[in-house]
Amino acid sequence: MDADEMLATTRAVRKRLDPDRDVPEHLIRECVSLALQAPAGSNLPRTRFVVVREQRLRAAVAEIYSDIYLHSYRASAGYIGRVEASGTQQRTARSADALERALHEVGTIVIACLDGVRLDGASAFTSASMLGGVLPATWSFMLAARARGLGTCWTTMHLSREKEVAEVLGIPFERVQQVCLTPLAFTRGEKFSPARRPAAEEVIHWDGWDAAKLAAPPLDGIAAPS
Ligand SMILES: Cc1cc2nc3c(=O)[nH]c(=O)nc-3n(C[C@H](O)[C@H](O)[C@H](O)COP(=O)(O)O)c2cc1C
Repeated sequence: MDADEMLATTRAVRKRLDPDRDVPEHLIRECVSLALQAPAGSNLPRTRFVVVREQRLRAAVAEIYSDIYLHSYRASAGYIGRVEASGTQQRTARSADALERALHEVGTIVIACLDGVRLDGASAFTSASMLGGVLPATWSFMLAARARGLGTCWTTMHLSREKEVAEVLGIPFERVQQVCLTPLAFTRGEKFSPARRPAAEEVIHWDGWDAAKLAAPPLDGIAAPS
């Protein structure tokens, strides 16, 4: 697979995670090693990967995700709007339902964290600088996983109850911020297709902001419930 194909086909995998094939530890180490090649502010990597393999811990994390998903998110305007919509939005909602179930089945859950600082109430500058060190590494981890036949799905839903997950896993909440939770499992089949996305021209603002370009919707109804 060349780089363009990998970038175009690394999907949010929810329905095609295979819980029956164990993910060897050495593959996880390889993905993390590659992830750490990503840029980091001040060349100080603050990204940490909490790899949850023990059944009891996985179940506890999955249960928190499910509780939020089933009892808060599925009743939210964002979810209902998606289900009532058609096409991509509806498929995303249905696929998200599948992930809630899959999280209870897969043998590995990975939580990417920012070590050393929490961003609650931080300035835009601090947030961008600190998250900017974790997000590229996390995406690189997912690309490296894809190159090894492994599927991932970026999620943030559990962050509305981040502290509970921190307690389950012994993550020091006061100085470590969780950023992304993903299942990690071999995929059923390795062929994935490019997704429908806006055309490049719709999002490129040549020589400054162009108000005629594609406008993003307001946040209401999209963010996970808190
Ligand atoms: C910041 C962020 C948060 C996300 N949170 C969730 C989530 O909580 N649950 C979920 O099922 N998917 C979540 N997703 C996955 C998106 O729904 C997915 O990337 C999107 O539908 C596009 O899917 P595709 O990459 O397969 O085309 C999240 C993605 C991002 C980037």
